Amino acid sequence: MHSNIMLRHKVVKLIRRHLEDAHGFVEIETPILSRSTPEGARDYLVPSRVQPGTFYALPQSPQLFKQMLMVSGFDKYYQIARCFRDEDLRADRQPEFTQLDMELAFTPLEEMLKLNEDLIRKVFLEIKGVNLPNPFPRLTYAEAMSRYGSDRPDIRFELELKDVSDIFSDSPFRVFADTLKSGGVIKVLCIPSGGKRYSNTALKKGEVYNEAIKSGAKGLPFLKVLNDGGMEGIPALVSSLDPTTTQQFLSRCSARPGDLILFAVGHHTSVNKTLDRLRLFMAHELGLVDDSRHSILWVTDFPMFEWNDSEQRLESLHHPFTAPNPEDIQDLSSARALAYDMVYNGVEIGGGSLRIYKRDVQQKVLEIVGVSPEEAETKFGYLLEALDMGAPPHGGIAYGLDRLVMLLAGANSIRDVIAFPKTTTAQCALTRTPSPVDPQQLKDLSYRTQ
Ligand code: AMO
Repeated sequence: MHSNIMLRHKVVKLIRRHLEDAHGFVEIETPILSRSTPEGARDYLVPSRVQPGTFYALPQSPQLFKQMLMVSGFDKYYQIARCFRDEDLRADRQPEFTQLDMELAFTPLEEMLKLNEDLIRKVFLEIKGVNLPNPFPRLTYAEAMSRYGSDRPDIRFELELKDVSDIFSDSPFRVFADTLKSGGVIKVLCIPSGGKRYSNTALKKGEVYNEAIKSGAKGLPFLKVLNDGGMEGIPALVSSLDPTTTQQFLSRCSARPGDLILFAVGHHTSVNKTLDRLRLFMAHELGLVDDSRHSILWVTDFPMFEWNDSEQRLESLHHPFTAPNPEDIQDLSSARALAYDMVYNGVEIGGGSLRIYKRDVQQKVLEIVGVSPEEAETKFGYLLEALDMGAPPHGGIAYGLDRLVMLLAGANSIRDVIAFPKTTTAQCALTRTPSPVDPQQLKDLSYRTQ
C-alpha cells in the first residue's frame, strides 16, 4: 500500500510537471459545494442551513466549470479534481475518486489526441519503462462493438466476434429463424481448441453457460468442430446445417477442427453484451491474456445518444455538452459525437470530447435528451449565456487517476491505490462513516428527526 501511494505521488508529480512546464497549463480549483452536473450518476447532496430546503450537489466532475473557464480566457486548464458519484461500486469505481481533468481552447481534435498520447506515453515510460505505440491505435465505436462487443475492448488477445446472421437467413433452426424475423442478429465467438476443453454437459449447464446467463442470455447455443469437419453440439442446430451453410459458416469463423463456437442471438445490444462477457471469461480461463502486452487505444466516433429503454427516451452517451460531428449535423439524434475514450487493457482510463460552443446547438441537444427550454434555462442558464458571448471552440478530457495508478501499480482494485478508500457499500471502515449525526445538527438544517 505504501509503495502504491508513493507511485501515485510520482505519477501526479510527473503529470503536473509535464502539463505545467512543457505545455503551460494552469491548475485551477473548482467548487465542491456545487450544482448537479449530468454525468449520469446520482448526486451526493448537502443540505444548506442558511437556505432551508435547498441543496448543494457534490460535483460528479468539474465539466461546466472548466467550460466556463475556457469562455473566461484560460486557454489551458487542468486540475487534479475530486469527483463524487453515488453509483453501484465495482473494483474500478469509488464514490469519491480523483480525475486528472483538463480542457483546452482552440485545439483541434487531432492535436488534442496527440497531446494526450504524449502525456500517457511519458507516464508509462518514466513510471514503468514501457514504450507505448506512437500513435495509439484507434477503433471507431461501431467497429469496437462489431468486433469485440464492447466500447472498451481488451485487445491483448484476438478472439473477435463474427456476425453470421446472413448465413443463417434461411435456417430451419427455430431460435435462429425467429430471431432474424424479429430484427435480431446472430453473432458467434470461435474459441481455438475450446472444443476439447469443455464437455457438452459443461456447456449446457456449467460455468460458461452460467456466464452467458448472467449477461442476460436465455441460453447458450454452441457447436464443436470435429476432426472430420462435422459438427457436434445442440442437436437441433447440428441437424439444421446443410453442407453449404456449414462451409460458409466455418470459413466466416476461421474455425478449425477442435474449435468451440459459442452463439448469442437476439437484439444486437444484448448479443454484444453476452459475447463481450464470454470473450473476457474464456480468454482468462484459457490463459490467452498475455500480461506482458500493453493494449492502449482510442475509441472514437461514439453516437451522441443511446436509447434508454426504461425511461423511453434518448440520453447522452457521454454528456450533453459533447459536440456532434459536423458531417452529421442534419440529423442530430443519430449523429456521431466528437468524443474519444482512452482504453488500456480493457479499462476505460479516460474520456473526453470537443464541446458544443454555440447556444442553438446546445439547446437542441438538451431538448433531444428531454430537457425543456425552461429547465435548460434554470439548470444551465449560465452556460447558455456564456456560449452567447462568443465561446471559443474548446474540448478536453478527464482521466480516472485512481484507475490509471491502479493499472500502473498492477493492482486489482482502485482501493489499493487510494489512501482511506471506501468499501463496496460506500463506507469508510476507519472512521465508520456514513454515521448518524447529532439531532441538533439536523434541527439546524431544518430537518425533523423521527
Ligand atoms: P467520465 O464520466 O467518462 O467523463 O469520467 C472520466 C474518467 O473518470 C473515471 N471514473 C471513475 N473512476 C473511479 N470511480 C468512479 N466512480 C469513476 N467514474 C468515472 C474513468 C473515466 O474515464 N466530464 C467528463 C470528462 C470530459 O468530457 O472532459 C467526465 O467526467 O476512468
